[in-house]
Amino acid sequence: MNTEKPVRRRFAPGTTADDLKEFMEPFVDHLGYKFNTEHDFVEEVLASEIEILEREGDIYCPCRMRTGDPKEDVAVICPCIPFHTDEFAAIKKCWCGLFILKDVEDGADLLGVIDEPTGPVDVPVFKVEDLPSGQVRHVKIGKRDIAVAHAADGFYALSDVCRHAFAPLSDGFMEGHVLVCPWHGWRYDVRTGSTDHPDSDVRTYPTKVVGGEVFVTVPPRRQT
Ligand code: SF4
Ligand code: FES
Repeated sequence: MNTEKPVRRRFAPGTTADDLKEFMEPFVDHLGYKFNTEHDFVEEVLASEIEILEREGDIYCPCRMRTGDPKEDVAVICPCIPFHTDEFAAIKKCWCGLFILKDVEDGADLLGVIDEPTGPVDVPVFKVEDLPSGQVRHVKIGKRDIAVAHAADGFYALSDVCRHAFAPLSDGFMEGHVLVCPWHGWRYDVRTGSTDHPDSDVRTYPTKVVGGEVFVTVPPRRQT
């Protein structure tokens, strides 16, 4: 009797690294990523994925552990970008460094494996001088739309979506610590996200300034 574990094949036997590149490129491009500019590194990681494909039947991540539960392990099939949009936006690369954000010109500093964060992630959003005091602007972190406001005493970040009729709060204007919605004038305290209307407060996020850059802290996706 053949006792070998059946191997599920999504890719034909003999799949090459070039086949994987052709398959992955348009998909990650759509997500805002590209292959690392360090070509030797890319070849190395893809060669590992081919070995895993031959052995396990799918292109599981070479730098992550699998649980053995196929339902959970879909999150470690390459490219796993959709499962970690916030974290990857923060570090500008996937865990392995195989993919980097499209706007990164040189991926040499983003090579190699890092551990998945278990806590919040600090995401650089813009330079201090890019947002004058009294103004507010929109930033996108993963799937989150966030308004970052510059009040007299510092930067504040809150959900960009007004709880009344979903206007982008970052199109509104500041009065001290109050951000006024551009559509019908609901008023949000940028320090707390609170408004006068019942059950309509918005979420806030911690911010900090390091080395002239503003950072917004977001929780890892699974803790949202
Ligand atoms: S961390 Fe990178 S190499 Fe690993 S599965 Fe995700 S996208 Fe692929
Ligand atoms: S949508 Fe913001 S006040 Fe109406």
